[in-house]
Amino acid sequence: MARNATNKLLQKAKKSKSDEFYTQLCDIESELEHYKIHFRNKVVFCNCDDPLISNFFNYFASNFEELGLKKLIAACYKEPIENSINSIDKESGYYYEYNGHLDEKCKPTLSDIVYFNGDGDFRNDESIELLKQSDIIVTNPPFSLFREYLAQLVSYKKKFLIIGNVNAITYKEVFKLIQADSAWLGINLGRGVSGFIVPEHYELYGTEARIDEFGNRIVSPNNCLWLTNLDTSYRHEDINLKKEYYGNESEYPQYDNYNGINVNKTKDIPKDYMGYIGVPITFLHKYNPEQFDLIKFRKGDNDKDLSINGKCPYFRILIKRKVKSESKKTA
Ligand SMILES: C[S@@+](CC[C@H](N)C(=O)[O-])C[C@H]1O[C@@H](n2cnc3c(N)ncnc32)[C@H](O)[C@@H]1O
Repeated sequence: MARNATNKLLQKAKKSKSDEFYTQLCDIESELEHYKIHFRNKVVFCNCDDPLISNFFNYFASNFEELGLKKLIAACYKEPIENSINSIDKESGYYYEYNGHLDEKCKPTLSDIVYFNGDGDFRNDESIELLKQSDIIVTNPPFSLFREYLAQLVSYKKKFLIIGNVNAITYKEVFKLIQADSAWLGINLGRGVSGFIVPEHYELYGTEARIDEFGNRIVSPNNCLWLTNLDTSYRHEDINLKKEYYGNESEYPQYDNYNGINVNKTKDIPKDYMGYIGVPITFLHKYNPEQFDLIKFRKGDNDKDLSINGKCPYFRILIKRKVKSESKKTA
């Protein structure tokens, strides 16, 4: 490849970073199957999704009747053309409202879409108007704007199911929401999200990078989560605790700066310890708010990172077993 062309590709890759990860239909299906009851008679808005190509749009359009949706809206940001995997040279952002009337193909064409006056940024008034009309927002938003994106959903009190990076748990805004039981992790996490379609100019990195049978270029970062405020029965199931603290105290070191013990794996949480326990952030994937309280994130009493003999394990969440009332225990 000529040097100029290579440089151009590298520039595009740098610019788009991981904002240009397009979600695969198989990953949407394997998460969405757990939430079907929430969608009856609801307006779904995919506000970072090109209706012409988005698999979120495809999923909801194809399952429109089965889910009993009232309406589906997908809105698309005017991505600079060189970053886009869609070949359409967009003049401005656009959206499409689907009411279940398209026949078997369920796919809109260019003549069906409505152009925004602006670029379709999710923060623009035009997009916010659509947000206000909607009940549930489902998408994979731009990773670089995740905090702002989530803050907007919260401020408009919307139900949501969105993809983010596992590290989003370490954002204090996200932890606060989870602590208040206003949001929680979805079903699939890490390797449970199999990979994303990336544009031509994106480097196919990692051992699991591949090109699928349709020619899509796929990378598998294995570091994504679903964040939601739609309930599922899974999050009300207790973690089955097998280990014991008493008799095995040496396996559970005390923190230097907090009256609690450290646990490196969720499965090792002892069933007989009722004090404070520091656990890795992936605990939240198994967290049942009826079994544990989330006490604090990351810091000890001295407001420094939790440490053991001077060494800090990667972000810990302090939890404490809930004492279940007798009536609940026997229920
Ligand atoms: C991680 S990609 C996911 C795309 C699509 N939601 C999917 O899951 O296949 C994020 C998308 O957000 C779009 N985007 C970037 N900035 C945006 C903004 N300010 N407002 C709305 N969409 C934006 C990008 O063009 C990109 O298509």
